[in-house]
Amino acid sequence: MELIKTDTSLSKKYISDVIYEQLKSKLPSCHRMLLEKSGAGNEFTGWLHIDNFMPESLLEAIEQSAQSLRKISQAIVVIGIGGSYLGARAVIEALSNPFSFDKKDYTQILFAGFNLSDDYHAGLLEYLNNVDYAVIVISKSGTTTEPAVAFRLLFSHLLEKYGEKQIKNRVICITDEKKGALRIIASQYGFSSFIIPDDIGGRYSVLTPVGILPIAAAGFNIRNLIEGAKRMMKEYYDHHHLPEMLINDYILTRMSLEKKGYLIELFVTYQPQMFYFMEWLKQLFGESEGKEGKGLFPASVIFTTDLHSLGQYIQEGKRLMFETVLNIVRPAKSVEIPSFTNNDDDLNYLAGKTLGFVNVKAMKGTQMAHIEGDVPNIEVIIPSLNEYYLGQMIYFFETACAISGYLNDINPFDQPGVEAYKKNMFTLLGKPGF
Ligand code: PA5
Repeated sequence: MELIKTDTSLSKKYISDVIYEQLKSKLPSCHRMLLEKSGAGNEFTGWLHIDNFMPESLLEAIEQSAQSLRKISQAIVVIGIGGSYLGARAVIEALSNPFSFDKKDYTQILFAGFNLSDDYHAGLLEYLNNVDYAVIVISKSGTTTEPAVAFRLLFSHLLEKYGEKQIKNRVICITDEKKGALRIIASQYGFSSFIIPDDIGGRYSVLTPVGILPIAAAGFNIRNLIEGAKRMMKEYYDHHHLPEMLINDYILTRMSLEKKGYLIELFVTYQPQMFYFMEWLKQLFGESEGKEGKGLFPASVIFTTDLHSLGQYIQEGKRLMFETVLNIVRPAKSVEIPSFTNNDDDLNYLAGKTLGFVNVKAMKGTQMAHIEGDVPNIEVIIPSLNEYYLGQMIYFFETACAISGYLNDINPFDQPGVEAYKKNMFTLLGKPGF
């Protein structure tokens, strides 16, 4: 198996050598802060050591639970928000065929608890009237409003549909070992549960049961995902001291661009099934870096779709952004363009070529155009889209994000700003104590 790669050559001309060298000289101390647990937020760096929190026994237990849920369900509803949901959704949607509706050998994964929409939940409950389903509810604190409300709705629905005795094997809770309302509910009703380790925060938790159980429940190979992440972990531990190491290359380039005045990191994909992976990236970087008036604003686009909506701005609007392109080299399947006898649509010049071939030319053409338009470009080269390389990418971006935070002198593991809306909402709702 290969390693993902980075190519930052199309950004070099936008970077100041002085800034780059300054950042490079600070890099070793940032790695020490992370690896020796001496930096801000060091109590949340447990995600670095995959073997510590994901032993074989836990993988087996997760596989068994996933199998049991799949046996009794046509659909599994995963309840969670932010870091307690985006990682699982990112991997599941990246690997799923969006057109698989065959209920015989396919367990549908649905998501809830990440919004407060009447219509969304009314539609979901209506749908669940007609399918056998189970629930995986995820919340580290066990008290976040959105998932707590969704769980209350689904819990009532399950009780009504199956009765108290039968719901025991239809609910799995993933939460703190001891604290929080969800832990209390799990013990009270005898639901099985998995633990979110104390030293791993939400947005760094996809490789814990938070992400791994829903991914296994969707039928994907969690062992390959973990293997991929471990491959990147080994790369990081063995080579973090080398400036050209792929994680360092990416960090130094993006941070040099930030210091040069680029405010937005635009994550780019040419694969629509990567939509939620981009959402995961935006949460990881946005919540980790955006504090104390600092940080790149993470945004994302799906090309070629968005070339027909945002492409004009990227090409000629305010020069604010650089692009980080996730280039997935080999598609899992290929689709050939047919030949037409009377070439009315003038497409015969593409006959026999695959869509992937055309997509690559679109990507290269776009890179060239955006460089001409002064949009610096970073490429992350991913051999193909499967569990193994998604595992590598998860570990790669988590580490890059943590070190970028230390380079910017902020704590990449807290999110104090998220509380502001909650306080106001609770006051407006009349929650006791607010
Ligand atoms: O990254 C984070 O810590 C957050 O995004 C949390 O995951 C999110 O707020 C959900 O929190 P909880 O799992 O406590 O419900």
